[in-house]
Amino acid sequence: MWRVTWLLLLATTVWQRGHTTEDENAQSPRHVSVVIVGSTGDLARKYLWQGFFRLYSSQVGKGYTFSFYGGGLSPSEKGTPLLFEILKELKCPPELAAERCALVKEQFLRLSQYIQLKTVEDYEKLSQQIEQQLKQEDMVEAGRLFYLSVPAFAYADVSSKINSTCRPPAEAWFRVVLEKPFGHDFESAQLLAAQLAGFLKEEEMYRIDHYLGKEVVAQILSFRKKNSNFLEPIWNRHHIERIEIVLKETLVCKGRIQFYDQYGVIRDVLQNHLTEVLTLLMMKIPANLSNSEEVLKNKLNVFSFLAPLGRNSVVVGQYQKYTEEVQEELNKTKDYFSRTPTFAGVGIFTDSPQYDGIPIFMTSGKMLDERVGYARILFKNDIFCVQDYSHVSCKPKQIVFHLGHGALDYPAILVSKNLFKPSLVSSVWREVTEHKDISVLGLPLSDYYIQTPVAPKEAYYVLINKVLHGRKDSFISADNLLASWAFWTPLLDSLVQAFPRPYPGGAANGDLLNFQLRGRELAYVNEAVVNVIQQGQDENFQVMQGKFRGAEMVSAWAKELVERLASDLQSIAEEVIQDEGQFHLVLSGGSSPIALFLQLALHHYTFPWHQTHVWLADERCVPTTDAGSNFRTIYEQLLQHVRIPYFNIHPMPVQLNQRLCVEEDGGALLYEKEINQHVNASSFHYVLLGVGQDGHTASLFQDSKLDETGERLVTLTESPVKPHQRMSLTFTAINKARRVGVLVMGKRKHELVTQLSRIKGESAKYPITKAKTIQKLQKVSDSPQSESQTCQPTTAGRGTSWKMKTLRRTWLPLELILRRGR
Ligand SMILES: *[C@@H]1O[C@H](CO)[C@@H](O)[C@H](O)[C@H]1NC(C)=O
Ligand SMILES: *[C@@H]1O[C@H](CO)[C@@H](O)[C@H](O)[C@H]1NC(C)=O
Ligand SMILES: *[C@@H]1O[C@H](CO)[C@@H](O)[C@H](O)[C@H]1NC(C)=O
Ligand SMILES: *[C@@H]1O[C@H](CO)[C@@H](O)[C@H](O)[C@H]1NC(C)=O
Repeated sequence: MWRVTWLLLLATTVWQRGHTTEDENAQSPRHVSVVIVGSTGDLARKYLWQGFFRLYSSQVGKGYTFSFYGGGLSPSEKGTPLLFEILKELKCPPELAAERCALVKEQFLRLSQYIQLKTVEDYEKLSQQIEQQLKQEDMVEAGRLFYLSVPAFAYADVSSKINSTCRPPAEAWFRVVLEKPFGHDFESAQLLAAQLAGFLKEEEMYRIDHYLGKEVVAQILSFRKKNSNFLEPIWNRHHIERIEIVLKETLVCKGRIQFYDQYGVIRDVLQNHLTEVLTLLMMKIPANLSNSEEVLKNKLNVFSFLAPLGRNSVVVGQYQKYTEEVQEELNKTKDYFSRTPTFAGVGIFTDSPQYDGIPIFMTSGKMLDERVGYARILFKNDIFCVQDYSHVSCKPKQIVFHLGHGALDYPAILVSKNLFKPSLVSSVWREVTEHKDISVLGLPLSDYYIQTPVAPKEAYYVLINKVLHGRKDSFISADNLLASWAFWTPLLDSLVQAFPRPYPGGAANGDLLNFQLRGRELAYVNEAVVNVIQQGQDENFQVMQGKFRGAEMVSAWAKELVERLASDLQSIAEEVIQDEGQFHLVLSGGSSPIALFLQLALHHYTFPWHQTHVWLADERCVPTTDAGSNFRTIYEQLLQHVRIPYFNIHPMPVQLNQRLCVEEDGGALLYEKEINQHVNASSFHYVLLGVGQDGHTASLFQDSKLDETGERLVTLTESPVKPHQRMSLTFTAINKARRVGVLVMGKRKHELVTQLSRIKGESAKYPITKAKTIQKLQKVSDSPQSESQTCQPTTAGRGTSWKMKTLRRTWLPLELILRRGR
């Protein structure tokens, strides 16, 4: 019995001691001096003063006293009224009653003042002022909090001045808050870190990412920990189908171009905010969530298992008005074009045993259809629903960390009811049971368990509060910052030459920006086409600017082009077969026609392959097993997928007597004979050609002695590039054909098309100009429609000219297809 009493007694004593300490604090409060450098700037006006006001109101009478210094470059007569304007507009925090708020606000205004902070002397004066005040009012100094709300280039300078003049005595803390950008890439971030390290200790620096102050983001770890009994078995590659981390914006960059154009969406949003969310989702849950060191260490570890990113991990876009905004704000001429992306989608993979194979899609953009931010974990659903499809077990299984905005319009964590019922992340969160009649990511709200903060707090307030209490886990450590830049920099480097896809903005984007995984690479679902149209003298890639699908820019989809070409081919084949029983088609190798092959193989199930003979325009003198073999490409991309009789396939006999393209073996003659045997008057029905960088077509090069081939249909030629030896149809064979199509693809061919377009008549320099078949076609053809055949050179006047125009309705001669930069 007496033991119990003793315990109670002890408890009382401890409580009293604790109480006494607070009383002591109340008598002699500890003082915090807050200095906002850049106190009348945009960020300070919108968020910082509001955050500090709320901090003050929550701390009043709780052991701290404050003074607030708003620093700026302007002299005090100019800065003071500016600051007053800002402070006057401060809004009351929701937890304060109006009357009390008025009182607190008055105090806050009295404690705040503007000071000029320009020279070292200004900073010295500030420090003296702080010390004087402490002395006068007999206060114990708790610490000094500097918030640098200045452009990044000023960090080193301001830090150096603060270090040399404003450090408090050793008993008090000294904390300096910095805001992104922390560099531009790995190297510049490293440089900045090294510079700052000369003036500030790592534990003194609080690098803010305001995403970490967003309440849902701040609770990700706690959610994972509180629900680990449910999550642990499924938080892995066996159960997670994919992860999406998304920030969509509707705004444009207008007014911020000076900054934005140097950064772009990846540096502005993905490298920092979205990467922070990624690490919180993937990191090992710390045993002690309050242990900043452990949190930061586990976070850092995530970067060690992210697979490197490359050019093909990303798709980029740029809203169309951006060009105009750039020209205006950067004072550039009308032909200036910026490649800065305003939209990006990235596919990230890991090589961790836990997450290997799970695609993590990260995406953000300006001028999209809605403003919303979320992270979604989609789980595999292995249930097969035979009936009652609307039952929740048949629907997506997912967890959504909804950061705000969107249709839901409040921060929340949503767990689909077919997963589990989660615990609340904190005592200041509540479950939402009354639902608006909307859906979030494919599920009506009633199919989710939803929790949300009782009284939402702004990110800046949350973070400033953490700075006051020295909680570093919600800030970016130097190690984490550099690890993130090390992860993103190679991707940024690979994008330097990339052209972002232009998009019109808002709902008009349609499916334009949708992207998909192909293996571990990312691509737009619809591949873009850009035609060359301008025939000015200083043409370059400026076709990218201008209107979307309008007159100037002229873009369409490779998909559309290839679809049209494939269906034209099919109708020609059907028509010819009806008249003659057989269709003789000549195909070229290279990468350009691959999209066409796939289109034919995957979408033209009724193509009359049984009556079609496939010939080659040219072949490299390599075995057919070689990756460079044209036949191999055609076989792999097309022939093996369709039902074409073996006898209808006519590879070029480049390998005879176990050797390659030896004149005496007579391979060329053999092919010619084969043509004569099968093809009526040696006149192919359709020859599809490409054009090389140097203007060659088939394997007819500049230096080939083309005129000496006479009536020969097939010949051996020499290519300037390896493998040098080639077998090729001659112009005689090509020009006998009823139809010739020329397909030019690849963005590097842009210049070439421009040059070709200026050539009138034939040019030895560009062998392709010797292919002139339209006249024959006109004679042979009885249907006027075939005159506007895809990709055909037209004759204008005496020679062949190359017209390039938009490909909206009529098929025009030469199309340049801008494919993903490979
Ligand atoms: C700050 O300034 C002092 C000199 O005033 C210097 O000795 C010190 O190295 C500087 N940097 C840090 C991180 O303290
Ligand atoms: C968790 O970490 C905090 C901060 O380091 C520490 O004060 C606390 O005692 C730790 N809690 C446990 C249970 O170890
Ligand atoms: C824009 O450029 C023109 C010509 O270079 C120059 O005269 C003008 O002062 C510039 N304006 C601004 C705002 O930079
Ligand atoms: C062969 O081609 C000619 C035209 O060049 C045509 O008149 C004739 O009908 C064709 N023969 C066959 C068997 O299709």
